[in-house]
Amino acid sequence: MASYISRAAPRAFNTGLRAAAVARPAMRVQRPAAPLFRRFLQVPAEQPRLRLGSVAPNFQAKTTHGDIDFHQWMGDSWAILFSHPADFTPVCTTELGAFAKLKDEFEKRNVKMLGLSADDLESHKDWSKDIEEVASTQMSFPIIADADRSISFKYDMITQQDLEDIPKKGLPFTIRSVFVIDPAKKIRLMMIYPASTGRNTAEVLRVVDSLQTADALGVVTPINWQVGEDVIVPPSVSTADAKKKFGDVKEVKPYLRYTNVGN
Ligand code: BEZ
Repeated sequence: MASYISRAAPRAFNTGLRAAAVARPAMRVQRPAAPLFRRFLQVPAEQPRLRLGSVAPNFQAKTTHGDIDFHQWMGDSWAILFSHPADFTPVCTTELGAFAKLKDEFEKRNVKMLGLSADDLESHKDWSKDIEEVASTQMSFPIIADADRSISFKYDMITQQDLEDIPKKGLPFTIRSVFVIDPAKKIRLMMIYPASTGRNTAEVLRVVDSLQTADALGVVTPINWQVGEDVIVPPSVSTADAKKKFGDVKEVKPYLRYTNVGN
């Protein structure tokens, strides 16, 4: 697992041997001083492995709407956290404006939007003015200032090596992800985009609709599904039970059964 412990340090620091070394100080291996860049960053020791169903790592952050504790800020809402490699970049500018314009759609679904960009607050404030001008909208949701990229690291968007390489190679552009997080703070969707490709707001909304429909009714949704179209009865539900619950069930194959839940 990646960590901020120097790669030059003995592997013992990253394994069970570390505990043994601590328990017996006489055997403790001298840890080399961290390079200046890493000492300055003050980032977490372990990089979480994120999976669907994992708890979204909590964090405290400075945002364009004030300081937040992420889980507290979410409260009982869903959240989408979407990230950007840098301010004043063209693709990101179009993306933030497009999400801002969909404020009402996300609110209807009880989803709070949270942007993140790997720059500081002053820069975000200036950039927000450009976004508002370009998209003719108001930035109605916060943008996290992740200038040290510690939250990007926590969300597995950037590696320790990427951070160490910044002075040599410049900024990495891997920070273009979308996380959909449910009110239980579980990650329900992760999408990772290349820096060259803007996201699709309609797809983010579609996945939220699918997840919320699935959670509420115990169904799953087929390819390209949109609200109102037929849903699928999951294999765990018998056709008899599905008919009791939903009425009509169309059986294409014993394992592929459609019904309509009418929303
Ligand atoms: C952009 O958002 O336009 C962008 C960001 C990083 C690299 C290339 C483009």
